[in-house]
Amino acid sequence: MEAIVFSAEEIALTVARLAREIANDFTSRPVLLLGVLKGALFLMADLARALPPDLETAIDFLAVSSYGNSHRSSGEVRLLKDTSESVEGKHVVIVEDIVDNGLTLQYLHDLLGRRNPASLSSCVLLDKPYRRRTDVRIDYRGLVAPDTFIVGYGLDYQEKFRSLPYLAKLRSRVFEDQGTGQIG
Ligand code: PRP
Repeated sequence: MEAIVFSAEEIALTVARLAREIANDFTSRPVLLLGVLKGALFLMADLARALPPDLETAIDFLAVSSYGNSHRSSGEVRLLKDTSESVEGKHVVIVEDIVDNGLTLQYLHDLLGRRNPASLSSCVLLDKPYRRRTDVRIDYRGLVAPDTFIVGYGLDYQEKFRSLPYLAKLRSRVFEDQGTGQIG
């Protein structure tokens, strides 16, 4: 690791702000938080617990993969695990750790939008806008990531570093000459 980019404290403050924004928008309407595995696991746990107890909140997960074990996005999104419950008629908030080229979130918007949710929005901890390939909407945006490879708080490099409680820049020699694309 080279340096901490966002500390655990900064992440916690950001998640608390995102929770306030969601709570303000939904007030008495029940919300389904839909976490995108694996990257969003810690964000889901923290965000769900940061929402006010009187906001009716359900949680569910799906899993997608766009990178496999390679460093760069293939641009191809695969659904590895679908939701456990139907999203029809529900206020769905997609919860993502990071948006990089945007194709994963776009895929999820398209997929879930066809299933007639009452509303569909997205909450993203890290926005990495430098290589965007689609103008997908982010409703609740946490932090803008620097244009470098980030790991921790759910984000991995070849399945390593996910469990770090902070977000850090990966040492460049780990993936020298492979660009700075994010694998999430
Ligand atoms: C990462 C991340 C997002 C996606 C963002 O997932 O969690 O889902 O990539 O990238 P994009 O905006 O360029 O499409 P990944 O496929 O690496 O799976 P993971 O969450 O299991 O690490």
